Amino acid sequence: MTSSSYPNGVGYIDGDYCAKEDMRLPVADLGFLLSDMTYDALHVRNGRVFRLEDHLDRWERSIAARRYTTLPDRDDVRKILVECVRRAQLRDAMVYIIATRGEAIDGLKDLRHCQNGFMAWAVPYYGVIPDDRMDDGVDIMISSVQRIPPESVDPTVKNFGRLDFSKALMEAYDKGCDHAVLLDQDGYVTEGRGWNIFALHGGTLVSPEGGVLEGVTRRTVIELCRHGNIKAELGKLRAADLRNADEVFMTSTAGGIMPVRKVDDSVIGTGSRGPVTTRLSDMYWALHDDPDHSTPVDY
Ligand SMILES: Cc1ncc(COP(=O)(O)O)c(C=O)c1O
Repeated sequence: MTSSSYPNGVGYIDGDYCAKEDMRLPVADLGFLLSDMTYDALHVRNGRVFRLEDHLDRWERSIAARRYTTLPDRDDVRKILVECVRRAQLRDAMVYIIATRGEAIDGLKDLRHCQNGFMAWAVPYYGVIPDDRMDDGVDIMISSVQRIPPESVDPTVKNFGRLDFSKALMEAYDKGCDHAVLLDQDGYVTEGRGWNIFALHGGTLVSPEGGVLEGVTRRTVIELCRHGNIKAELGKLRAADLRNADEVFMTSTAGGIMPVRKVDDSVIGTGSRGPVTTRLSDMYWALHDDPDHSTPVDY
């Protein structure tokens, strides 16, 4: 059954389910005013949630790091997110679970005394890049905007405090690029808005080891490489390592493994999706039917 009375998806907020477009957040929520929030994003493919428990593990680490104390527990979060998918009758979905600091109870805005907010939604699946760019890839620039240092905002706690990415994306649009990747204060490659990055050099794949979100897709790629006899490691990449790479791809729950055609003015490989990217991508989507990596939704 795929028909739904919720074509834009289903949300959960304040203890109730509703059409996604009817969700509202109070403007005084410190999630909005301070970006004091965290979230996780999962996806459903062919009616199965991919790596559900791994996402919930990361969610729980984020909640603990933020010191949120008044949220639904893991079992309830799992039930709510699956229920959003079920009510929306989506076989392929992006699913968000979001926690906010909530509203302050007095003018002092003591963060310890807020009722933390929780919401979730499931919407039709989408990727970070358009479908018609999945073969040839997208053009990215190495931004002049420095990634917010991890000492200030921990990038392993998934968050919407993304003004560095917004500024970098504006710079990229001005240069005719689709996306921007940011460097850290020492000039090492980090990540882009919503994705990690990999570069292939002489048969070895490298993805930045630190200063980034520990992506579930990044981890899946490394595991697939182990099974597929492809050398892969977490390490340090300079801008030039991206420009001179044999293949470059981005990874995200929203889109999977996405090829990069150009980095700044350098065409990568032959200018279309390389063989390692293609092989990993095929393995990645095949994994979605594996019961060890996905959980069926009971529609
Ligand atoms: C900043 C950032 N890096 C990387 C990723 C990729 O993480 P995952 O593979 O878990 O979707 C995301 C996902 O939204 C992200 O926001």
